[in-house]
Amino acid sequence: MSDQRPRVLVARAVFSETVERLRAHFEVEDNPDDVLFTKDQLTGRLRGKAGAFTTGSERVDAQVLDANPQLRVVANMAVGYNNLDIEAFNARGVLATNTPDVLTETTADFGFALMMAAARRMAESEHYLRRGEWTRWRYDMFTGSDVHGATLGILGMGRIGQAIARRGALGFSMRVVYHNRSRLDPALEAPLGARWVDKATLLREADHLVLVLPYSAQSHHAIGAAELALMKPTATLTNVARGGIVDDAALAQALRERRIAAAALDVFEGEPAVHPGLLEVPNVVLTPHIASATVATRRRMAELAADNLIAALTGGTPPTPVNPQVLR
Ligand code: GLV
Repeated sequence: MSDQRPRVLVARAVFSETVERLRAHFEVEDNPDDVLFTKDQLTGRLRGKAGAFTTGSERVDAQVLDANPQLRVVANMAVGYNNLDIEAFNARGVLATNTPDVLTETTADFGFALMMAAARRMAESEHYLRRGEWTRWRYDMFTGSDVHGATLGILGMGRIGQAIARRGALGFSMRVVYHNRSRLDPALEAPLGARWVDKATLLREADHLVLVLPYSAQSHHAIGAAELALMKPTATLTNVARGGIVDDAALAQALRERRIAAAALDVFEGEPAVHPGLLEVPNVVLTPHIASATVATRRRMAELAADNLIAALTGGTPPTPVNPQVLR
Protein backbone atom coordinates (compact mmCIF):
# COMPACT_ATOMS: atom_id res chain seq x y z
CA MET A 1 0.00 0.00 0.00
CA SER A 2 1.46 3.37 -0.92
CA ASP A 3 2.19 5.97 1.74
CA GLN A 4 -0.66 8.52 1.65
CA ARG A 5 1.05 11.01 3.93
CA PRO A 6 2.24 14.36 2.52
CA ARG A 7 5.63 14.19 0.86
CA VAL A 8 8.37 16.60 1.86
CA LEU A 9 11.89 17.30 0.68
CA VAL A 10 14.67 17.97 3.18
CA ALA A 11 16.94 19.78 0.74
CA ARG A 12 20.16 19.66 2.77
CA ALA A 13 21.81 17.48 5.40
CA VAL A 14 20.45 18.17 8.86
CA PHE A 15 20.39 16.48 12.29
CA SER A 16 19.16 12.89 11.94
CA GLU A 17 16.77 13.49 14.86
CA THR A 18 15.08 16.24 12.85
CA VAL A 19 14.68 13.98 9.82
CA GLU A 20 13.29 11.20 12.05
CA ARG A 21 10.80 13.60 13.55
CA LEU A 22 9.63 14.61 10.08
CA ARG A 23 9.36 10.93 9.09
CA ALA A 24 6.76 10.47 11.84
CA HIS A 25 4.46 12.81 9.88
CA PHE A 26 5.57 12.69 6.27
CA GLU A 27 7.05 10.64 3.51
CA VAL A 28 10.49 12.25 3.54
CA GLU A 29 13.09 12.49 0.81
CA ASP A 30 16.26 13.68 2.52
CA ASN A 31 19.77 14.51 1.40
CA PRO A 32 22.18 12.97 3.92
CA ASP A 33 25.12 13.40 1.52
CA ASP A 34 24.38 17.14 1.44
CA VAL A 35 24.44 17.38 -2.35
CA LEU A 36 24.04 21.00 -3.42
CA PHE A 37 21.19 20.92 -5.93
CA THR A 38 21.23 23.12 -9.01
CA LYS A 39 18.02 25.02 -9.57
CA ASP A 40 16.86 22.37 -12.07
CA GLN A 41 17.67 19.58 -9.63
CA LEU A 42 15.86 21.35 -6.80
CA THR A 43 12.87 21.88 -9.09
CA GLY A 44 12.90 18.19 -9.98
CA ARG A 45 13.31 17.02 -6.38
CA LEU A 46 10.32 19.12 -5.35
CA ARG A 47 7.99 17.28 -7.78
CA GLY A 48 5.07 15.86 -5.83
CA LYS A 49 6.24 17.44 -2.54
CA ALA A 50 3.84 19.44 -0.38
CA GLY A 51 6.62 20.91 1.71
CA ALA A 52 10.32 21.63 1.72
CA PHE A 53 12.91 22.10 4.46
CA THR A 54 15.57 24.45 3.07
CA THR A 55 18.53 26.51 4.22
CA GLY A 56 19.64 29.93 3.06
CA SER A 57 21.55 28.30 0.19
CA GLU A 58 18.50 27.09 -1.73
CA ARG A 59 16.89 29.69 -3.96
CA VAL A 60 13.14 29.22 -4.39
CA ASP A 61 11.70 31.64 -6.93
CA ALA A 62 8.69 31.96 -9.23
CA GLN A 63 10.06 29.42 -11.71
CA VAL A 64 10.62 26.79 -9.03
CA LEU A 65 7.15 27.43 -7.61
CA ASP A 66 5.44 27.39 -11.02
CA ALA A 67 6.98 24.01 -11.79
CA ASN A 68 5.63 22.75 -8.45
CA PRO A 69 2.07 24.05 -7.98
CA GLN A 70 1.47 21.35 -5.34
CA LEU A 71 4.07 22.92 -3.00
CA ARG A 72 2.38 24.51 0.02
CA VAL A 73 5.17 25.44 2.40
CA VAL A 74 8.92 26.10 2.44
CA ALA A 75 10.46 26.05 5.93
CA ASN A 76 13.79 27.87 5.81
CA MET A 77 16.32 26.97 8.53
CA ALA A 78 17.61 30.55 8.81
CA VAL A 79 16.28 33.83 10.07
CA GLY A 80 17.13 35.52 6.76
CA TYR A 81 14.96 34.54 3.81
CA ASN A 82 16.33 36.54 0.90
CA ASN A 83 16.77 33.17 -0.87
CA LEU A 84 12.96 32.93 -1.07
CA ASP A 85 11.09 35.22 -3.47
CA ILE A 86 8.36 36.18 -1.01
CA GLU A 87 6.35 38.13 -3.62
CA ALA A 88 6.20 34.99 -5.74
CA PHE A 89 5.18 32.98 -2.65
CA ASN A 90 2.41 35.48 -1.85
CA ALA A 91 1.12 35.53 -5.42
CA ARG A 92 0.80 31.74 -5.36
CA GLY A 93 -0.41 31.39 -1.76
CA VAL A 94 2.66 29.40 -0.69
CA LEU A 95 3.75 29.73 2.94
CA ALA A 96 7.35 30.60 3.84
CA THR A 97 8.67 30.25 7.38
CA ASN A 98 12.00 31.19 9.00
CA THR A 99 13.78 30.69 12.35
CA PRO A 100 13.89 34.01 14.24
CA ASP A 101 14.57 34.47 17.98
CA VAL A 102 16.24 31.11 18.62
CA LEU A 103 19.51 32.40 17.12
CA THR A 104 19.47 36.00 18.33
CA GLU A 105 21.83 35.75 21.31
CA THR A 106 24.19 33.27 19.64
CA THR A 107 24.51 35.48 16.56
CA ALA A 108 25.00 38.57 18.72
CA ASP A 109 27.81 36.77 20.62
CA PHE A 110 29.55 36.08 17.35
CA GLY A 111 29.04 39.57 15.95
CA PHE A 112 30.54 41.02 19.11
CA ALA A 113 33.44 38.56 18.99
CA LEU A 114 34.17 39.47 15.36
CA MET A 115 34.06 43.17 16.20
CA MET A 116 36.53 42.62 19.05
CA ALA A 117 38.74 40.48 16.82
CA ALA A 118 38.91 43.27 14.24
CA ALA A 119 39.51 46.00 16.82
CA ARG A 120 42.27 44.04 18.57
CA ARG A 121 43.75 42.57 15.38
CA MET A 122 43.41 38.98 16.55
CA ALA A 123 43.44 37.19 13.19
CA GLU A 124 46.22 39.34 11.77
CA SER A 125 48.46 38.81 14.81
CA GLU A 126 47.70 35.09 14.96
CA HIS A 127 48.76 34.68 11.33
CA TYR A 128 51.98 36.54 12.14
CA LEU A 129 52.68 34.18 15.04
CA ARG A 130 51.94 31.09 12.93
CA ARG A 131 54.29 32.34 10.23
CA GLY A 132 57.06 32.27 12.86
CA GLU A 133 57.64 36.01 12.64
CA TRP A 134 57.31 36.70 16.39
CA THR A 135 60.79 37.24 17.75
CA ARG A 136 60.33 39.92 20.43
CA TRP A 137 57.83 42.10 22.30
CA ARG A 138 57.48 45.60 20.92
CA TYR A 139 55.62 48.61 22.34
CA ASP A 140 53.56 49.14 19.20
CA MET A 141 53.17 45.57 18.02
CA PHE A 142 49.59 45.03 16.74
CA THR A 143 48.22 48.00 18.61
CA GLY A 144 44.53 48.26 17.82
CA SER A 145 41.65 50.25 19.23
CA ASP A 146 39.65 49.87 22.42
CA VAL A 147 36.19 48.40 22.41
CA HIS A 148 35.22 49.38 25.96
CA GLY A 149 34.08 52.97 26.14
CA ALA A 150 34.09 53.38 22.35
CA THR A 151 31.15 54.29 20.12
CA LEU A 152 29.27 51.26 18.81
CA GLY A 153 27.38 51.93 15.60
CA ILE A 154 24.63 49.56 14.53
CA LEU A 155 23.03 49.58 11.11
CA GLY A 156 19.77 47.61 11.36
CA MET A 157 18.41 47.60 14.90
CA GLY A 158 16.26 44.48 14.91
CA ARG A 159 16.49 41.63 17.38
CA ILE A 160 20.15 40.84 16.73
CA GLY A 161 21.15 44.52 16.52
CA GLN A 162 19.56 45.14 19.91
CA ALA A 163 21.29 42.09 21.40
CA ILE A 164 24.66 43.41 20.18
CA ALA A 165 23.81 46.86 21.56
CA ARG A 166 23.05 45.28 24.96
CA ARG A 167 26.46 43.64 25.02
CA GLY A 168 28.16 46.90 24.12
CA ALA A 169 26.21 49.20 26.42
CA LEU A 170 25.88 46.98 29.48
CA GLY A 171 29.04 44.92 29.26
CA PHE A 172 31.54 47.30 27.68
CA SER A 173 30.28 50.80 28.58
CA MET A 174 29.94 51.66 24.90
CA ARG A 175 28.00 54.62 23.59
CA VAL A 176 25.41 53.21 21.17
CA VAL A 177 24.27 54.98 18.01
CA TYR A 178 22.10 53.25 15.44
CA HIS A 179 20.32 53.74 12.18
CA ASN A 180 17.20 51.88 11.19
CA ARG A 181 14.25 52.69 8.94
CA SER A 182 12.14 53.17 12.03
CA ARG A 183 13.23 54.42 15.42
CA LEU A 184 12.97 52.05 18.35
CA ASP A 185 10.44 52.65 21.06
CA PRO A 186 12.12 55.02 23.56
CA ALA A 187 11.48 52.36 26.22
CA LEU A 188 13.87 50.06 24.32
CA GLU A 189 16.42 52.82 23.63
CA ALA A 190 16.62 54.09 27.21
CA PRO A 191 18.28 51.14 29.00
CA LEU A 192 20.93 51.02 26.25
CA GLY A 193 21.37 54.77 26.02
CA ALA A 194 20.90 54.13 22.29
CA ARG A 195 20.51 57.13 19.99
CA TRP A 196 18.90 57.01 16.51
CA VAL A 197 20.97 58.97 13.97
CA ASP A 198 20.85 59.34 10.21
CA LYS A 199 23.05 57.02 8.22
CA ALA A 200 25.77 59.57 7.48
CA THR A 201 26.06 60.46 11.17
CA LEU A 202 26.25 56.78 12.06
CA LEU A 203 29.11 56.29 9.60
CA ARG A 204 30.96 59.36 10.88
CA GLU A 205 30.54 58.67 14.60
CA ALA A 206 31.02 54.91 14.91
CA ASP A 207 34.33 53.58 16.20
CA HIS A 208 33.01 50.10 15.54
CA LEU A 209 30.22 49.70 13.00
CA VAL A 210 28.23 46.45 12.96
CA LEU A 211 25.82 45.56 10.13
CA VAL A 212 22.76 43.58 11.13
CA LEU A 213 20.14 44.50 8.53
CA PRO A 214 18.31 42.10 6.23
CA TYR A 215 19.39 41.86 2.60
CA SER A 216 17.00 43.30 0.03
CA ALA A 217 17.21 45.33 -3.16
CA GLN A 218 17.17 48.40 -0.89
CA SER A 219 20.09 47.24 1.27
CA HIS A 220 22.25 46.06 -1.68
CA HIS A 221 25.65 47.77 -1.30
CA ALA A 222 24.38 49.83 1.65
CA ILE A 223 28.10 50.09 2.42
CA GLY A 224 30.16 51.01 -0.64
CA ALA A 225 33.02 53.36 -1.41
CA ALA A 226 31.04 56.52 -0.56
CA GLU A 227 29.95 55.16 2.83
CA LEU A 228 33.42 53.83 3.69
CA ALA A 229 34.81 57.28 2.91
CA LEU A 230 32.67 58.76 5.69
CA MET A 231 34.05 56.39 8.33
CA LYS A 232 36.91 57.22 10.68
CA PRO A 233 40.31 55.92 9.55
CA THR A 234 40.53 54.19 12.94
CA ALA A 235 37.11 52.54 12.64
CA THR A 236 36.23 48.87 12.17
CA LEU A 237 33.38 47.37 10.14
CA THR A 238 31.72 44.05 11.00
CA ASN A 239 29.16 42.25 8.81
CA VAL A 240 27.11 39.40 10.26
CA ALA A 241 24.06 40.18 8.12
CA ARG A 242 24.30 39.11 4.48
CA GLY A 243 26.73 39.26 1.63
CA GLY A 244 25.81 41.97 -0.85
CA ILE A 245 25.06 44.54 1.84
CA VAL A 246 28.75 45.48 1.57
CA ASP A 247 30.44 46.15 -1.75
CA ASP A 248 33.29 43.71 -1.10
CA ALA A 249 35.54 45.14 -3.84
CA ALA A 250 35.22 48.65 -2.37
CA LEU A 251 35.86 47.30 1.12
CA ALA A 252 38.98 45.41 0.03
CA GLN A 253 40.32 48.61 -1.49
CA ALA A 254 39.52 50.68 1.62
CA LEU A 255 41.28 48.10 3.80
CA ARG A 256 44.29 47.99 1.49
CA GLU A 257 44.56 51.77 1.59
CA ARG A 258 43.90 51.79 5.35
CA ARG A 259 40.99 54.16 4.89
CA ILE A 260 39.39 52.20 7.70
CA ALA A 261 41.45 50.25 10.22
CA ALA A 262 39.98 46.77 9.96
CA ALA A 263 36.95 44.68 9.12
CA ALA A 264 35.40 41.38 10.18
CA LEU A 265 33.13 39.49 7.80
CA ASP A 266 31.06 36.36 8.26
CA VAL A 267 29.13 36.82 5.01
CA PHE A 268 30.21 37.62 1.46
CA GLU A 269 28.88 38.60 -1.94
CA GLY A 270 28.60 35.37 -3.93
CA GLU A 271 29.69 33.18 -0.99
CA PRO A 272 31.22 30.64 -0.62
CA ALA A 273 33.45 32.53 -3.05
CA VAL A 274 35.33 35.36 -1.34
CA HIS A 275 36.52 38.45 -3.20
CA PRO A 276 40.25 37.86 -3.85
CA GLY A 277 41.04 41.39 -2.67
CA LEU A 278 39.77 40.47 0.80
CA LEU A 279 42.00 37.40 0.94
CA GLU A 280 45.04 39.56 0.20
CA VAL A 281 44.66 42.19 2.91
CA PRO A 282 45.79 41.38 6.45
CA ASN A 283 43.41 43.67 8.34
CA VAL A 284 40.25 41.64 7.90
CA VAL A 285 38.90 38.68 9.89
CA LEU A 286 37.10 36.20 7.64
CA THR A 287 34.74 33.45 8.83
CA PRO A 288 32.55 31.10 6.74
CA HIS A 289 29.00 32.19 7.63
CA ILE A 290 28.95 30.63 11.08
CA ALA A 291 27.46 33.34 13.30
CA SER A 292 24.60 31.10 14.45
CA ALA A 293 26.75 27.98 14.62
CA THR A 294 26.61 26.63 18.13
CA VAL A 295 25.39 23.07 18.57
CA ALA A 296 22.48 24.16 20.76
CA THR A 297 21.35 26.94 18.45
CA ARG A 298 21.62 24.93 15.26
CA ARG A 299 19.46 22.28 16.95
CA ARG A 300 16.91 24.91 17.94
CA MET A 301 16.86 26.27 14.38
CA ALA A 302 16.33 22.80 12.90
CA GLU A 303 13.57 22.05 15.42
CA LEU A 304 11.80 25.33 14.71
CA ALA A 305 11.96 24.74 10.95
CA ALA A 306 10.49 21.26 11.53
CA ASP A 307 7.79 22.69 13.84
CA ASN A 308 6.80 25.06 11.05
CA LEU A 309 6.71 22.35 8.40
CA ILE A 310 4.70 19.96 10.57
CA ALA A 311 2.19 22.59 11.66
CA ALA A 312 1.71 23.93 8.12
CA LEU A 313 0.93 20.49 6.68
CA THR A 314 -1.05 18.98 9.55
CA GLY A 315 -3.58 21.74 10.20
CA GLY A 316 -1.64 23.44 12.99
CA THR A 317 -0.43 27.01 13.36
CA PRO A 318 3.15 27.49 12.14
CA PRO A 319 5.00 29.35 14.90
CA THR A 320 7.11 31.65 12.74
CA PRO A 321 5.56 32.35 9.33
CA VAL A 322 7.18 34.97 7.10
CA ASN A 323 4.00 35.63 5.10
CA PRO A 324 1.14 34.73 7.48
CA GLN A 325 -1.35 36.40 5.15
CA VAL A 326 -1.35 33.30 2.94
CA LEU A 327 -2.72 31.29 5.88
CA ARG A 328 -5.94 33.33 5.89
C1 GLV B 1 21.84 32.90 8.75
O1 GLV B 1 22.48 33.58 8.03
C2 GLV B 1 20.45 33.10 9.00
O2 GLV B 1 19.81 33.92 8.30
O3 GLV B 1 19.91 32.43 9.88
